[in-house]
Formats: sequence, C-alpha cells, structure tokens
Amino acid sequence: MTKKHEVDHVTGVETTGHEWDGIKELNKPLPRWWLLTFYASIVWAIGYWIVYPAWPLANDYTRGIWGYSQRATVAAEVKAGIDAQAGQRAALDKTPLADVRKNPELLRFAMAAGAASFQTNCAACHGRGAQGFVGYPNLNDDDWIWGGSVEDIHKTILHGIRSDAAEARNSAMPRFGIDNMLDKAQIDQAAEYVLSLSGKSTDAAVAAKGAVIFKEQCASCHGPEGKGIVEQGAPNLTDGIWLYGGGKEQVVESIRTGRGGMMPAWQPRLDSVTLKSLAIYVHSLGGGK
Ligand code: HEC
Ligand code: HEC
Repeated sequence: MTKKHEVDHVTGVETTGHEWDGIKELNKPLPRWWLLTFYASIVWAIGYWIVYPAWPLANDYTRGIWGYSQRATVAAEVKAGIDAQAGQRAALDKTPLADVRKNPELLRFAMAAGAASFQTNCAACHGRGAQGFVGYPNLNDDDWIWGGSVEDIHKTILHGIRSDAAEARNSAMPRFGIDNMLDKAQIDQAAEYVLSLSGKSTDAAVAAKGAVIFKEQCASCHGPEGKGIVEQGAPNLTDGIWLYGGGKEQVVESIRTGRGGMMPAWQPRLDSVTLKSLAIYVHSLGGGK
C-alpha cells in the first residue's frame, strides 16, 4: 500500500489528509467483517420489506408477497381452540347446573371458562379477586344478598339486579330520609339499633328507641332479628359484613337514601355456556351454598 498522506508519527498510522486547526484525522477504515455485515443487513431488510407487511401507506400498508397476517394467525388459533372445546361446551350446555360438580373434567372446564369470563366482564365492578368494593359485594364470602346456591347465583347473573330485565332481582328499600318517612332523630335511632346488632352501638338508650322503629319499619324486609331476607334482597345486618360500610355515617346514609345498587343482566350479552361457567366459578369462590 502506498501511503499518499502524511503518517502520524505517534501511532504510525496514515492520516486522511483532512486537517482542522492543526488537528488531523487518522485513516482507520471500518473493519471488513463489519462492513459486510452492514451490507448484508441492508439486503436482508429489503428482502423483508418485500415478503412481509412493512411500510405504512395513507390508508393501508404494504402487505408483502407472503401475505402474512398476525390477525389471521390469531383468528385461526382461536377457532382451533373453540373447535377443540366444542365437545365440552356441548356437554356443559346439556348438564344441569347441580350436576356439573359430579364430573371433574367438566367442572375443570367450567371453572377455567368462568374465571376467564369473570376477569373480562365482572372484575371491573367486583374486583379481580371478586373481593368487591363499597357498593359492590364481595363474592368470596358466604354472605349472599340474593342467595348463594349455584342456581340462585346463576339467576342473579342472568337477569341482574334492579336491571331492566323482566326477571331481574328487584326490591327497593324505602328512601326513609329523602322521602321524609323518618326524621333525622329517628334515622339516627334506627342506625344506632342497626349498629347494636353487630355489637357496634355506643349508645344503648338511643338504640333502644331504634329497636321500636326497626320493628315497625324495617323488620318486614330485614327480618325481626335483622338477619336479612333473601327474597327481599335485604341484607343481613347482624354479621358485620356491609355492602355500603358499617360506620355510623354510612348506615345513616343507607337508611336515608335506600341505596338501590344495580347490576346489569348478562343473559343478553353472554352465551348460555359462559353464563353457566360464571355461576359455577362464583359459587366455587368459597361462599357457595
Ligand atoms: C356495573 C357493575 C357490575 C358488574 C360489571 C357486575 N356486577 Fe355483580 N353486582 C353489582 C352490584 C352493584 C351488586 C349488588 C347489587 C345489590 O344487591 O345492591 C352485584 C351483585 C352480584 C351478585 C349477588 C351477590 C349477592 O350477595 O347475592 C352476584 C352473584 C354477582 N354480582 C355476580 C356478577 C358476575 C358473575 C358478573 C360478571 C358477569 C358481575 N356480577 C358483573 C355490580 C356489578
Ligand atoms: C322494602 C324492603 C326494605 C325495608 C322496609 C328496609 N330495607 Fe334496608 N335494605 C333493603 C334492601 C333491598 C337493601 C339493599 C340495598 C342495595 O343492595 O342497594 C337494604 C340495605 C340496608 C342497609 C345497608 C346494608 C349494608 O350492607 O350496607 C341498611 C343499613 C339498611 N338497609 C337498614 C334498614 C333500616 C334501618 C330500615 C328501617 C328503617 C330498613 N333498612 C328498611 C330493603 C329494605
């Protein structure tokens, strides 16, 4: 190699001949292996653009000559999955709810389907672990407002609660405060009595007055002992489990407004196998009766 340019005397490397304010550049070309890899990747990229979907266009994208589509791949996989389940879905559809538990394989299928559907459709209100939030019941405990048998749960899910479905679970606690059925002092007394049912009252004299109101105004729905009546959707007030909170303020608010929580009906949205799976899944969470 003939050296056309000056050689740097420190490193012994030829310079490029460029000079900026006395600073000179050593002529150190990129290694050959690096350059070859670089060119190869350009060729690879062009090939890739041609065969695979690559470039965005105004309203579309270049689809590539192999016609590959992740969407189509996923759709085919989903369809294969559903086809593979067809037998179990048909079996579950035919089996009465109460008998599903007797068939371990069917039960396992229903549990998996129910768990998946629960995360999609129910977790937003009831929580991912079905633990509930204020106003949205915990579905893990054995405290059921509308009944805890698998049939009861199935019915609740199908038609909803105070939804617009004809067979919805329906009942309305009167709005004792808003509609002036009880005055403030009476509501306070009733609340104090309700708290006493779970040993939380701090004023026995006021609670005693509340007991009289409760007998007249509340017992028809919540039961003479406040243990709740499932047919009325009236919760048990003695177990320390609260849908709307068990502080004095929240109990007063429940009596004042009557609450009236709503759950949508799911029958119009989900197929019968999914609805059955959901009932079995919820029933299995721990509190099923
Ligand atoms: C938009 C919010 C919402 C969604 C979504 C929702 N729920 Fe509910 N759910 C509620 C509310 C509120 C209640 C309590 C209603 C009441 O009685 O005051 C309830 C009550 C229930 C009950 C009755 C509990 C009892 O103690 O009797 C069951 C069972 C239930 N939900 C299951 C489900 C399942 C299964 C799904 C999904 C398919 C679901 N919920 C989706 C709001 C919701
Ligand atoms: C017509 C039936 C009915 C009557 C009468 C009634 N309730 Fe209720 N009560 C209900 C229903 C139904 C609920 C549940 C509301 C919901 O789920 O949104 C409820 C809920 C409550 C709650 C909330 C419980 C919780 O877990 O957070 C309290 C407290 C309560 N009632 C107290 C009373 C008191 C006190 C009276 C009498 C002054 C009374 N209720 C009269 C039906 C009734």
